[in-house]
Amino acid sequence: MNLPAFVQLIDVGPRDGLQNEKQPVPAAVKVELVHRLQAAGLTEIEVTSFVSPKWVPQMADNAQVMSGIARQPGVRYSVLTPNLQGFEAALQSKPDEIVVFGAASEAFSHKNINCSIAESMERFAPVVQAALAAGLAVRGAMSCTVGCPYEGEVAPERVGYLAGLMKQIGVQRVDVADTIGVGTPLKVQRAIEATLAHFDVDHVCGHFHDTYGQALGNTLAALQMGVWNFQSSVAGLGGCPYAKGATGNVATEEVVYLLHGMGIDTGIDLDRLVDAGAFISDFLQRKSNSRVATAILNKRAG
Ligand code: HMG
Ligand code: MG
Repeated sequence: MNLPAFVQLIDVGPRDGLQNEKQPVPAAVKVELVHRLQAAGLTEIEVTSFVSPKWVPQMADNAQVMSGIARQPGVRYSVLTPNLQGFEAALQSKPDEIVVFGAASEAFSHKNINCSIAESMERFAPVVQAALAAGLAVRGAMSCTVGCPYEGEVAPERVGYLAGLMKQIGVQRVDVADTIGVGTPLKVQRAIEATLAHFDVDHVCGHFHDTYGQALGNTLAALQMGVWNFQSSVAGLGGCPYAKGATGNVATEEVVYLLHGMGIDTGIDLDRLVDAGAFISDFLQRKSNSRVATAILNKRAG
């Protein structure tokens, strides 16, 4: 097995995790979560999204959250931007990276961003150009790369098609997302393989939701292909508001435990990460979705 020696984790908890919360989460709590994540050693954090507040009310405080963060050198702060309007608003907040987000399934594209895949590319292209001109990094999230809540199974060819479009408009790296967490290792590998026709392995990130408990297996399957960038949410927060029933991303604690157990470095302090997860779980008045965090907290208590 040719496993990477180091894995770069991107915590998407403040964005993907919290976007789905019904109860208001004050900007100060989001800022504190970001501070705790960077203190735990996360060097990439997806902070918020500049989307319509009518579509995702929880992210309406995007600018406030971005301006509240005490930036730490060496940390990359990213934000989602679906169109030029979102990009222009995001630019004021000085993100390091912007994320355009498309889908491998037409139905999900319509439900999530109210346009077809082809139309989404027309909207993203000027965003990507403007971001690159402003010296920002550009990532492209690809939703529903194995399954769609509206269309069912998604063929790898659809993923390859989307990855090719992302490449054409100048996106620098892409996320292979299992939005609803239905993937299993071989299916995820096929989606990654289709992506690798357009992006090299250093520019492919795994983004696995854990609805069916497969995300760690899928992470290992991606690692075996040489993928070394992954997104996860502290405490396993979240889900997408336009993918009903889907749960959060794989918990960052789970991924860190897996990787460290395999001798793979992440630069993350698991104990401090567990503290960050406990902070947000306490605020939300719910137990963490991370079994690793639960085990460590039980061990501490006992
Ligand atoms: P639309 O209604 O088609 O947009 O929405 P529009 O251009 O026709 O504009 C309609 C109204 O929205 C106007 O306001 C615009 O000003 C406003 P009004 O005149 O009616 O008062 N508007 C905006 N406001 C703020 N920021 C903007 C913006 N754009 C337009 N950027 C739109 C299109 C894309 C805006 C909408 O569909 C939207 O906001 N969608 C976001 C959905 C979303 O955030 N989903 C979750 C993130 S994706 C995800 O979680 C998946 C991921 O994790 C990977 C995975 O797991 O799969 C990334
Ligand atoms: Mg997601």
